[in-house]
Amino acid sequence: MSAELTTIIDFIRYGASRFGRAGLTFGHSYDNALDEATQLVLHALHLQHDIGPAYGQARLVEEEKQAILALFQRRIDERIPACYLTGEAWFAGLSFKSDPRALVPRSPIAELILSGFEPWLGGRSVERALDLCTGSGCIAIATAHYHPHWQVDGVDISDAALALAAENVERLDARNVRLLKSDLFAGLQGEVYDLIVSNPPYVTDDETDALPQEYAHEPELGLRAGPDGLDLVLKMLRDAPVHLSDNGLMICEVGESERHLVRLLPELPLAWVEFKVGQMGVFVVERSDLVAHAASIKVLADARR
Ligand SMILES: C[S@@+](CC[C@H](N)C(=O)[O-])C[C@H]1O[C@@H](n2cnc3c(N)ncnc32)[C@H](O)[C@@H]1O
Repeated sequence: MSAELTTIIDFIRYGASRFGRAGLTFGHSYDNALDEATQLVLHALHLQHDIGPAYGQARLVEEEKQAILALFQRRIDERIPACYLTGEAWFAGLSFKSDPRALVPRSPIAELILSGFEPWLGGRSVERALDLCTGSGCIAIATAHYHPHWQVDGVDISDAALALAAENVERLDARNVRLLKSDLFAGLQGEVYDLIVSNPPYVTDDETDALPQEYAHEPELGLRAGPDGLDLVLKMLRDAPVHLSDNGLMICEVGESERHLVRLLPELPLAWVEFKVGQMGVFVVERSDLVAHAASIKVLADARR
């Protein structure tokens, strides 16, 4: 069979067709079969992701064909996300190491980072920023990369995630990033930030149980967040004011749990970010509004585990 496939393009097309037939899910950095097949083919061939289209017609030797087919087979049989097979994920234009110690970077917050968090910052000056629940470190490191004068803390409760984040700090030479282990804000006494950004766990228990097999390769600690997905987010809203400067801003992703949050706190002014592809459950909130609604937030947050 591999004799019928000769070029790079042949293998990308063939992989995408097999992925489609196998009913794979594409929710990890790439959202379609062709892009995943392309990544796996280029990885097996040790080629850069940005090689020119002319190389699509390059013919492969048998050893290369077998390496590609073996990767396709693992993607199909074991449902491993492509980024875990290649060990690399792109986020905000930067290449991160990616492996099962932390979620595959894919937050829409990348788009906000690339827009300099505008128009939300609106001229606020930022000296210190926090990426709470940093995982692979992608949000902290990308933020620090595009704002070399900011000091950025990346915080996570998982030693494994922090180890991967440390490797990414080194990989991207992110000298203005500090990594800290903490259960949300518990270990951040006295730390004050102008901007808090977070992509925390926010998947409901029912949704976590029903996720496609690909997600089982990711740490559940990064996904599961209680019956309505808000166990961590409510605590973050409760505790953030102490760690935000007077004019500070918090940006947080809650995905599909947006509807639960709006139902629980209808009075809290949350601005929902419009991304190029539409709304994706990311809100922006001012410290002053968190303070004004502190009593109702506290009642809800205190009731969580
Ligand atoms: C959805 S993942 C996001 C990771 C990363 N920010 C990204 O966008 O790819 C959430 C992260 O929160 C971490 N986490 C879970 N519970 C936490 C807690 N109580 N305190 C701090 N981090 C926590 C997990 O270890 C995981 O790395």
